[in-house]
Amino acid sequence: MTIFEALKNRRAVRNYTTQSVEREKIERLLEAATFAPNDRMREPWHFYVLQGQALANYETLAHDYLVERFPTKPNLVESSLKVVQTTPVVIVVTSDIVEGDADATKDNVFAVSTAIMSMWLVAEELGLGFVWRTRGVGLVHDPAMHQFIQAPANQQVVGTIFLGYPAEEKETEKKRTSYTEKTTWLS
Ligand SMILES: Cc1cc2nc3c(=O)[nH]c(=O)nc-3n(C[C@H](O)[C@H](O)[C@H](O)COP(=O)(O)O)c2cc1C
Repeated sequence: MTIFEALKNRRAVRNYTTQSVEREKIERLLEAATFAPNDRMREPWHFYVLQGQALANYETLAHDYLVERFPTKPNLVESSLKVVQTTPVVIVVTSDIVEGDADATKDNVFAVSTAIMSMWLVAEELGLGFVWRTRGVGLVHDPAMHQFIQAPANQQVVGTIFLGYPAEEKETEKKRTSYTEKTTWLS
């Protein structure tokens, strides 16, 4: 598979089988992330791998968040929670905050984003289903996640990765707007 093919074939995969993900494969993703480009070699990422009891605790966190957010929508709470209950591994990814330097802090988030993309491509190579979540049970924009993983104050949560073996054939090519409509050539 060429890099171009991998980029084109990669999909967000949200449904997984009950098969657990081998530790070596998780480590392969984590190692891939560390090769990502990053300004001044700050290597601003940290990974919190949730399995076993930690994953069960995350389910409780997600439940409490959903019930509070959607008190009149029990079906939505149930379906969102099912997503967590059926995910074999969750990896919460953080980016370092550089005190007093908003630009460097932003650059760190850019770097961590490239690291997550590296993980996503390697997941594709290993036959794993992967999705980067921020909204809803991803809890990226809610301080509860930061507290849950007990991250230090100088780390901000950037992504919650859901990982497992795909339960179904992944979507084929997803329609994209041509780069010609997204590019301005300046000369
Ligand atoms: C920063 C970011 C946040 C995302 N958050 C969510 C999310 O909260 N829930 C979700 O189901 N998918 C989420 N996704 C996955 C996108 O929905 C998905 O990448 C998009 O639909 C394109 O589909 P594809 O990845 O299969 O090409 C996120 C992706 C990115 C890059």
